[in-house]
Amino acid sequence: MNLKHTIRNRQAKIGVIGLGYVGLPLAVEFAKEGFDVTGFDIDAWKVGEINAGRSYILDVKSEDVARVAAAVPVSAGAVAAAGSARDLAVTGVEAPPAGSLRATTDMSHLRDMDVVDICVPTPLRKTKDPDLSYVVQAVEAVKTHLRPGQLIILESTTYPGTTDEVVRPALEERGLTAGTDFYLAFSPERVDPGNHAYTTKTIPKVVGGVNALSTELASDLYSSIIDTVIPVSSTRVAEMVKLLENTFRAVNIGLVNEIALMSHRMDIDVWEVIDAAATKPFGFMPFYPGPGLGGHCIPIDPSYLSWKARQYGFECRFIELASHVNGSMPEFVVERVSEALNSARKPINGSKIHLFGVAYKKDVSDMRESPALDILELLHRRGAVLSYTDPYVPHLQHGDLNLGSMPEEQSDGIDCAVICTNHRVFNYQAMASRFPLIVDTRNALKGVQAAHIFRL
Ligand SMILES: NC(=O)c1ccc[n+]([C@@H]2O[C@H](COP(=O)([O-])OP(=O)(O)OC[C@H]3O[C@@H](n4cnc5c(N)ncnc54)[C@H](O)[C@@H]3O)[C@@H](O)[C@H]2O)c1
Repeated sequence: MNLKHTIRNRQAKIGVIGLGYVGLPLAVEFAKEGFDVTGFDIDAWKVGEINAGRSYILDVKSEDVARVAAAVPVSAGAVAAAGSARDLAVTGVEAPPAGSLRATTDMSHLRDMDVVDICVPTPLRKTKDPDLSYVVQAVEAVKTHLRPGQLIILESTTYPGTTDEVVRPALEERGLTAGTDFYLAFSPERVDPGNHAYTTKTIPKVVGGVNALSTELASDLYSSIIDTVIPVSSTRVAEMVKLLENTFRAVNIGLVNEIALMSHRMDIDVWEVIDAAATKPFGFMPFYPGPGLGGHCIPIDPSYLSWKARQYGFECRFIELASHVNGSMPEFVVERVSEALNSARKPINGSKIHLFGVAYKKDVSDMRESPALDILELLHRRGAVLSYTDPYVPHLQHGDLNLGSMPEEQSDGIDCAVICTNHRVFNYQAMASRFPLIVDTRNALKGVQAAHIFRL
């Protein structure tokens, strides 16, 4: 049976490499739609959790994982040895029913897959250059087990040219040709953790292959789980689409942060300005200021683009400028804390300062690149006595800071509270009256006007 047919009748075996914020929802969605899915991860704990039917990602329900994980017969106690339990099923000892998910650390099972989706991290090095080591490692594993007829898709965000210049030559070292012996495509992931309005299924998916057949096969695959698929002419276009989207956000957030800094000098309420501007039904899209950028995408992805552009002698001035403005926001928050304390004749040194929310954005537990870490560090250097509340982040370790989240109602005796991340679970009404000083970096106390509340 050819690959097109196996995809269409949901008999294609799908491998997802990297079971994180991107890979796990994708793997679960494929399994829910009837595919036989194997998740590959180097993290044995994650593999064990999936095989035990538990989710470690807030947006993915444990009951969904349990339902698809339970579709595979498990021998008692086998889960404990991460990677080995479901491997029995993978090797064909026990054939799982359609619509199942199992996880493994054993990459040799990649050979049994018809489709392999790569969803590994793409961070920056300390020098701010792209760190493709995770992609390279995953591609090496795929290459080792590559067989004719497989469809390989890269989903990790990366610079234009990665699929063509890095992934393709590595895979072709096996003597197989991309586009004819095996199929290769890039499809950027657009998942937005914490956003319940859009899910893996309802977010349109862009797909670009190394040739028309690769694009067609990858489009067929995603069409079986995603409502709208947008084929584009090449892998480079698909890679650039993602970087345009995230650069657009970084630059617009940079612009609105600059407007916030400017408005503060001019004694204008930037939040009121944005709300009024947003009433324009065309030509304006609201972006909001905040304590700085965070997460694995917006602070990082534009640097992938500017790094690649430099190879063409092109300087990305918007990206550099936005990164400069966004990077200065934690300093500005500390300045506002200092102004707030000053109004009560207190210095930062020795004051009890409590952060509400340390995750990089609301309703997620992701701490990667969180601006709260910079704010804590700056306040720590100035001698503040620090504490925090974040129901999604029970512990926080940063430099020599080692803190545990305090229950919201126990955060008493605080000199200044800083609303850093506006999680929905916080009781803002109570907060407004409980603390002598509040610095609100997210306009979470919208509509509450009082002398002790300091906004950005
Ligand atoms: N987090 C987001 O909101 C988001 C949104 C869109 C796109 N992306 C992009 O998706 C990619 C993945 O991001 P993420 O947030 O899911 O990362 P993540 O860190 O949550 O997950 C990555 C997973 O890959 C695993 N891994 C690393 N190297 C591996 C290897 N060689 N073999 C197998 N598993 C390996 C890790 O153990 C981890 O479980 C990145 O390129 C990111 O930029 C992320």
